[in-house]
Amino acid sequence: MPLHIIVLAAGQGTRMRSALPKVLQPLGDRPLLTHVVETAQRLDPERIHVVYGHGAEQVQSALGYLDVNWVHQAEQLGTGHAVAQAIHDVPDGARVLVLYGDVPLIRAETLENLVEAAGGDSLALLTVVLDDPTGYGRIVRDDSNRVIGIVEHKDADGDQRHIREVNTGLLCGPAGRLRDWLVRLDNDNAQGEYYLTDIVALAAEDGVRVVAGQAGSAAEVQGINDKRELAAAERVLQRRQADELMAAGLTLRDPARFDLRGTLTAGPDCVIDVNAVIEGEVALGAGVHVGPNCVLRQCRIGDGTQIHAHTVIEHARVGDRCQIGPFARLRPDTELGERAKVGNFVETKNIKVGAGSKMPHLSYVGDAELGADVNVGAGVITCNYDGAAKHKTVIGDGAFIGSDCQLVAPVEVAAGATIGAGSTITKDAPAGKLTVSRARQVTVEGWQRPRKDRKT
Ligand code: UD1
Ligand code: CA
Repeated sequence: MPLHIIVLAAGQGTRMRSALPKVLQPLGDRPLLTHVVETAQRLDPERIHVVYGHGAEQVQSALGYLDVNWVHQAEQLGTGHAVAQAIHDVPDGARVLVLYGDVPLIRAETLENLVEAAGGDSLALLTVVLDDPTGYGRIVRDDSNRVIGIVEHKDADGDQRHIREVNTGLLCGPAGRLRDWLVRLDNDNAQGEYYLTDIVALAAEDGVRVVAGQAGSAAEVQGINDKRELAAAERVLQRRQADELMAAGLTLRDPARFDLRGTLTAGPDCVIDVNAVIEGEVALGAGVHVGPNCVLRQCRIGDGTQIHAHTVIEHARVGDRCQIGPFARLRPDTELGERAKVGNFVETKNIKVGAGSKMPHLSYVGDAELGADVNVGAGVITCNYDGAAKHKTVIGDGAFIGSDCQLVAPVEVAAGATIGAGSTITKDAPAGKLTVSRARQVTVEGWQRPRKDRKT
């Protein structure tokens, strides 16, 4: 039986108090709706239909690329009305699974169980028992414990409000039946809306079996309505990701202080200390150590490399057995060969560095190519920008740049050259020789330091 999934995502989300539509609010740096659509895809459905409405243009421009059938709901007249918009595109013989765009943590396994519970002809509801059911639709059962309806909080009487089993909103049923029930809905209720939940009573009336499957945890079915719930969901997502990575062998010094906002792959025996923020696609080789408070964005780190505390790396490739930081900043297009060292307060950008080269302290090296075994002394700066254009610095194998030099690009320091400390290098320096540009040191004989007059 083909499966069609309808995702309801047209609501406004006023409580977010944001110019960004609710379903575009980020969870793990990806829009809420993206999480739902990705989970839906894991069920391998015939088609995914997304009912959108509020913030339509923003939603389309951010997520228009998704392989789904976009169904526009111009006016949000209720969840039943929303499903009715999409049901036109679903054939009678199919099964329909309804998801919410703002319930992003739902697991594919839970949905698979729900679809299975629905079978070919039953209506399956996903429910959860809450200590505080305020605001939710309550599951109403008859004397023999059969589900006979859902009553919304605002329509519930005092007794019904004591029911703690609530509707998560997620359900699965046969398309043909659903189509029929949807046209029978009315909006004669406290909110003047077409409630999807009213189909449950219609199903019971029609003698269709209604089954309630319970969700694995309340967190999984939590709807996100405000920034507090968004933050709570973020922690749940982070813990899930951390658990998966640890199951695959990654050592996290504290999974509660780890944030992955993208994808991380790690070879065996990697260790990540506290407060790491990992963004985009990050790949760690084998035995990589990441110190506390590091940010890694879109980068590849080679085997055995150590990244010390407070390092920021973005759009870079780091070779095997390198030493980076503490307090290093590798900016985009930094490529380090094996055993390279980038030490504290060093900033790099658009550079290629050969094996074994070192820049241990206080440097800016940008738009440069360094050979192997180059030594860059403390305080060296490549002056790559003349106010209009960027220029390149080339440093050959085994060159030694003394401390506090400025290399004014375009300039080349040939292999094996030594640049004396404190030099400003504006012309190419030849191979194997010492080049210095600083003024000679003099000592002035008989010079006296000025003195203040002493009052007596
Ligand atoms: C709904 C359920 C309630 C359940 C609760 C769980 C109904 C009538 N009530 O209530 O039983 O306990 O969810 O969170 O279904 N949407 C549209 N178009 C609309 C209206 C809503 O796309 O016209 C979307 C919203 O964007 C949201 C979802 O449907 O993703 C649920 O809508 P919401 O208004 O939050 O429903 P609740 O009143 O919370
Ligand atoms: Ca809601």
